[in-house]
Amino acid sequence: MGSNSNPIGVIDSGVGGLSMVIALDQLLSSEEIVYVADPLHFPYGEKAKNELIHIVSSLVSYLNENLKAKLIITACGTISSNCLEELSALFQVPIIGIIDPASREAVRKTKTGKVVVLATSATVKSSTFQKHLQRIHSSITVKEEAWPEFVEAVEKGLHQTDDWRKWIHTQLIGFQQENFDTIIMGCTHFALISSFFQDIAETTFEIINPAIATAQEVKEYLAKSNLLNPSELSKKRIIVRGNSTNIKKTIQKYSDLQKINIEAFPEKIIENFINKVQRYCTPASTPM
Ligand code: DGL
Repeated sequence: MGSNSNPIGVIDSGVGGLSMVIALDQLLSSEEIVYVADPLHFPYGEKAKNELIHIVSSLVSYLNENLKAKLIITACGTISSNCLEELSALFQVPIIGIIDPASREAVRKTKTGKVVVLATSATVKSSTFQKHLQRIHSSITVKEEAWPEFVEAVEKGLHQTDDWRKWIHTQLIGFQQENFDTIIMGCTHFALISSFFQDIAETTFEIINPAIATAQEVKEYLAKSNLLNPSELSKKRIIVRGNSTNIKKTIQKYSDLQKINIEAFPEKIIENFINKVQRYCTPASTPM
């Protein structure tokens, strides 16, 4: 049986990608994980598609060419819903997004056939979740909601207030009254705080954490492709582009993450990749 000890690359704008690091650590502890977080360009969810492709291409290039990642996970609803096809066309390395795994899990779980997706503005605008959910099961009813202010609150670790709890509770009551029974954390920032939602929702909803659903599919993919790492326990790295204050603050709250070192992003190296991807991508100002 073959194997591959190269790392798995993970990409997101900020704390949301930590949900994937936690899920991979639990399911694939022998794999080396390199999470590139990009708070320099947060929020991804308010960016135009071409600007996103431009930003994320240089991160994929870095993980692919410099760190020799065997697989890259876009641990971000915004990238997964807006840029996955384009990125997959630009790079040889397999790139896996969160939309399909989360959608399959939601369709498996819903009893009423009514699914809510909570996400960023760019994800909702793309309607990708709706298309994927209805491709899996054509009679699923989908409600997609953009909560950009809440993404920001989670990024800054400011979501655990009474005001936010009350506001979320009110939204959930609305979903319940319309007979929705399943909620996809369509932004990984929300996935990271799934238990916060679960506390407010009590037992009313199935909460789908896309990081867990995706990590399970990644495990199956690596096994099927003979790419699993044979070693016992591998290291996890977080490389932060921009200010790491929020990531550091958030990591303190998750015991699974505290052992992980945070490194600064090598901006010098990325300059080469930025020049290279500029050839692929049109200017950042093109509207979505
Ligand atoms: N965590 C990301 C997502 O899943 C991005 C949030 C943002 O940067 O706006 O969409």
